[in-house]
Formats: sequence, C-alpha cells, structure tokens
Amino acid sequence: MSKSENKVAGYAIIGFGNIGKALARAFARKGIEVSVATTREPESFASDAAAIGPGIIPTTLAEAVRADVIFLAVRFESHPDVAKALPTWQGKTIVDVTNAYGVSPEKLGGQPSAKVVEQAFTGGKLVKGFNHLGAAILDQDPAVHGGRRVVFVASDDDGAAAEIGALAEKLGFSPIKLGGLSEGGLLVQACGNSWGQLIFKDLVKFD
Ligand SMILES: NC(=O)c1ccc[n+]([C@@H]2O[C@H](COP(=O)([O-])OP(=O)(O)OC[C@H]3O[C@@H](n4cnc5c(N)ncnc54)[C@H](OP(=O)(O)O)[C@@H]3O)[C@@H](O)[C@H]2O)c1
Repeated sequence: MSKSENKVAGYAIIGFGNIGKALARAFARKGIEVSVATTREPESFASDAAAIGPGIIPTTLAEAVRADVIFLAVRFESHPDVAKALPTWQGKTIVDVTNAYGVSPEKLGGQPSAKVVEQAFTGGKLVKGFNHLGAAILDQDPAVHGGRRVVFVASDDDGAAAEIGALAEKLGFSPIKLGGLSEGGLLVQACGNSWGQLIFKDLVKFD
C-alpha cells in the first residue's frame, strides 16, 4: 500500500507548484501533516514532497479533498476542475490562494474572484488568504526581523476566517482579518490587469 492510500491529513494543498510547495514548507516547518495533490499520480511528485518533510503526504485529488481544510493553490482558471472533485463541499473550508490576474472583470461577472471560486465550491466555506506574498517570500520562515510576516484573511464566514487565522498563527504568520470577500477581500484580489491594493501598495496597472 502506498503512503497516499493509508493516510489523510486534516489539511490539504491542491497544487504543488511554486505556491503549493511554499505552503507545504510552512506546514513542514511546524511539523504539521498536510496532503498535497496535483493532476498527476502521487508517485510522480513523492520525492519532491519527501524533500520538504516527512509530514508532506503526496496523494490524489480524490483523497486530498477528504481533508477539512483545503488550500487551493492552482491557477485561477483551474478552480472549476478542482471543484468537480466533490458534489458538495459542505463542512469544508477552502482557502483561496489564487490570483485571478489577467482575468477580465466581465469574465468574473463583475464579482470579486473569490466570490466566483466560492460559488464553484458549493456549500463550502471560502476564505481568501495567503495570496499576496510571492512564492519566494511565502517559502521563507515567516519569523523575520523580530516580527512575523503578515497574511491577510477575508471571508463571508466569520468562523472560517477565525479558523484560518488560527492556522496562520500556528504556521508562524501574523493574520490580519479584512472582513468579507466583497469589501476587505477586494484589497487582496487581482482584478483584470490590476493587483489588489494590499498586494501592491499603489494599485499597479499593466496594460
Ligand atoms: N507564484 C506566485 O508567486 C504566486 C503568489 C501568490 C499567489 N499565486 C497564485 O497561486 C496559484 C498557483 O500558482 P503557482 O505559481 O504555484 O502555479 P504553478 O507553479 O503553475 O502550479 C500549479 C499547480 O496546480 C496544479 N493543478 C492544476 N490543475 C489542477 C487540478 N485540476 N487538480 C489538481 N491540481 C491541479 C498543477 O498540477 P501539475 O503539477 O500536475 O500540473 C500544479 O502543481 C495561482 O492561482 C497563482 O495566481 C501565485
């Protein structure tokens, strides 16, 4: 029996690219187990997972979504494929780490990208967070210069925001709650060719 068949962690990261690996390293740093899944068979990235730490469990998407808290670390365009993995996400907390940079506001129906993701994950509690740090920064120990690196957390569900805030603290970050997805959450969401104001202070726009 492979490691992926006999273990399911309470936490999962879907996507094991730049951001998925950086998040996995944060879990490994604190000795907290987490499942990781991609589009591929777990054997194909098992050595990368093992290199990060023994608590990083390579698994399939179907197994990973059995976790209670699921980090979505795929490209924004891939979120509907991940959402198909379960008929309902009731009882699950999804942490949306995606940046819908370059996706037109029309394509999002004028909504914040996290609202679009929330609707795809029917019944789930959506928390937008951990997305404002570049992968190379997120990858590092958040204890820096005598302080702790900040992560922003926004949700329409106060309980879920508190849950992910507490997890962020366990991972060594300093969480800042921004309120709901359509208000504070917009500060950390890319919109079309603009970044949220808390991603880049001066709301940089690329044409
Ligand atoms: N890179 C950054 O600095 C940064 C910073 C903040 C936020 N973000 C956001 O974080 C997300 C991930 O970025 P990244 O740079 O880590 O991307 P990436 O390196 O391209 O990794 C994407 C990962 O998602 C997996 N994936 C795609 N579709 C999937 C599906 N249907 N089921 C399961 N796994 C799937 C891919 O699997 P395979 O390996 O099998 O292809 C890959 O492991 C994006 O939304 C990005 O905007 C990125």
